[in-house]
Amino acid sequence: MNKTILLNNRPVGLPKLSDFKFVSEPLPHISSGEILLKSKYVSVDPYLRGRMRDVKSYIQPFDLGKPIVSGIVAEVLESKNTNFVKGDFVSGMLEWKEQQISNGEDLTKVDPKKAPLSAYLGILGMTGLTAYLGLTEIGAPKKGETLVVSGAAGAVGSIVGQIGHILGLHVVGIAGTDEKVAMLKSKFGFDETINYKTTKNMTEAIAAACPNGVDVYFDNVGGDISDAVLFNINKFARMVICGAISVYNALAMPKSLSVQTFLIRNSALMQGFIIFDYKEKYPEAIRQLAQWLSEGKLTYTETIREGFEEIPQAFIDLFSGGNKGKMVVKI
Ligand SMILES: NC(=O)c1ccc[n+]([C@@H]2O[C@H](COP(=O)([O-])OP(=O)(O)OC[C@H]3O[C@@H](n4cnc5c(N)ncnc54)[C@H](OP(=O)(O)O)[C@@H]3O)[C@@H](O)[C@H]2O)c1
Repeated sequence: MNKTILLNNRPVGLPKLSDFKFVSEPLPHISSGEILLKSKYVSVDPYLRGRMRDVKSYIQPFDLGKPIVSGIVAEVLESKNTNFVKGDFVSGMLEWKEQQISNGEDLTKVDPKKAPLSAYLGILGMTGLTAYLGLTEIGAPKKGETLVVSGAAGAVGSIVGQIGHILGLHVVGIAGTDEKVAMLKSKFGFDETINYKTTKNMTEAIAAACPNGVDVYFDNVGGDISDAVLFNINKFARMVICGAISVYNALAMPKSLSVQTFLIRNSALMQGFIIFDYKEKYPEAIRQLAQWLSEGKLTYTETIREGFEEIPQAFIDLFSGGNKGKMVVKI
């Protein structure tokens, strides 16, 4: 039998295990033009929370009673499609199923000899693309400037900080444990760090960590942390609004600062970022990330949970900081 994970309820607040449902169905059989895939690594991502709401967004909401979809690296078990052979590995947006059928459209072949399979969901996948393109396209970083990154010890944030370091910026990372902020300096080359959970006055802490003010802010979290950054921005600052995890589970629209006066006073730019708007730039971004990786200028960390049954809990744990770097589930 083949296990599948369905969206059972639209979560209210923090998602719960009961919002997901495991079902078993007979193993699939393929027809001409199709391939049979076995999931190897499943990506769990904060943005999936948005797709669990029934609201209009940049991407369709998940249907109740239907499988959840996320980035998955899978092995081709059987092929009746001339583009794939048994033993190929592919990456793409696939269903939370142990095995599934695909017609091969929108799947990318990945090479386990060039990088570990899980890296194609992280630094060489959507995570790396988000970090690189968000920072370079909207952040427009310049050598000598100051970059602040929230969610800095997570998948995207840890790469953003390293790219800032490579490009010669003063890089400040904000994360939620002492262990995480220590890792930002020791492993990822951040210059200064702030643990937002133990810091009483974030505005003052950011000012201290950024003696020349903030030129680029890469925002993964929104909320109070981002409000504190606003008090420290420089003239012509650029703010990349990549994520807002601190409000994804909010039951009511949060009250936050009125940003207009900060933007006007500083001729500053605040721009929302969606990775899918930059598809034509993916090949160049991946080439650059792979080059830095092979040169040892970039590194990454992963939190790997094991077992198909662990997928929902791994997803839920993103909202309490249960990951360092990219959270993936190995099947
Ligand atoms: N716009 C796009 O195209 C795009 C693409 C990919 C990702 N994203 C967004 O980018 C952000 C980062 O994604 P990711 O995949 O790299 O996830 P991630 O940062 O690896 O995982 C989430 C992390 O967020 C932190 N967090 C959780 N609740 C928080 C809160 N209330 N306040 C502050 N921090 C909190 C936790 O770290 P701590 O222990 O430090 O709290 C947790 O480890 C997310 O908001 C995601 O939605 C956007």
